[in-house]
Amino acid sequence: MIGDERWDGVYSFEDSPFIMEILTELRNRETGSIPFRKGLVKLGRYMGYELTKLMDVERVRIETPLEATEGILVKDRRNVVIITVLRAAIPLMEGLIKVFEHARVGIVSASRGKAPEFEIEMNYIKIPRITPQDTVIVADPMIATGSTLVRALRELSKYGKPKRLMVLGVLAAPEGIERLKREFPELNVVVAKVDRELNEHGYILPGLGDAGDRAFGAPIKAPMPPGTRGV
Ligand code: URA
Repeated sequence: MIGDERWDGVYSFEDSPFIMEILTELRNRETGSIPFRKGLVKLGRYMGYELTKLMDVERVRIETPLEATEGILVKDRRNVVIITVLRAAIPLMEGLIKVFEHARVGIVSASRGKAPEFEIEMNYIKIPRITPQDTVIVADPMIATGSTLVRALRELSKYGKPKRLMVLGVLAAPEGIERLKREFPELNVVVAKVDRELNEHGYILPGLGDAGDRAFGAPIKAPMPPGTRGV
């Protein structure tokens, strides 16, 4: 994991051949949804493991069967809140929770409208208790315009101030990072890679396409039975 020279608190994994190999598989249009989801789970797990480098540790005395020695406790690992931005963050969260097994988990469902307005509609939000000891990890694979995340982070700030606030994604566009850092300068942004740019439809280039559709299939407008409502 390396710091990006353009911004404080922004990290990528370009120094990690294995993470780059997983990213290459995700980018490949030939990769189907099963390996795509598995790739996201792996990234959640391996990137989550690296996030512990940004956490505080405590020295502890323990006894091996042979003698007393000193060890390490990653104290902050026990105080983690993972916020899952639907849909595509579900497999990322599955990987993250393997590292942060004590985590409390929140859900944000938000959808982005079409260009050029990219209006954000937030349909569902359930956030657990956030304390001053917590590290909050907002999982969202694609940091494109940053508008969904800005909206989610504004909402989150109403639930308490954590010790540390992070966004974990797969790819980010420089435009999205700028937007996030302008409003949340203290935010840590951790992504596999910062890509080149956004296209006019708000997609990241070279990117990997629509992460939700790649992981779960493109939605169709389903005919709803009478008396029910889609969300
Ligand atoms: N969301 C995606 O899934 N992909 C992009 O490239 C941008 C936003």
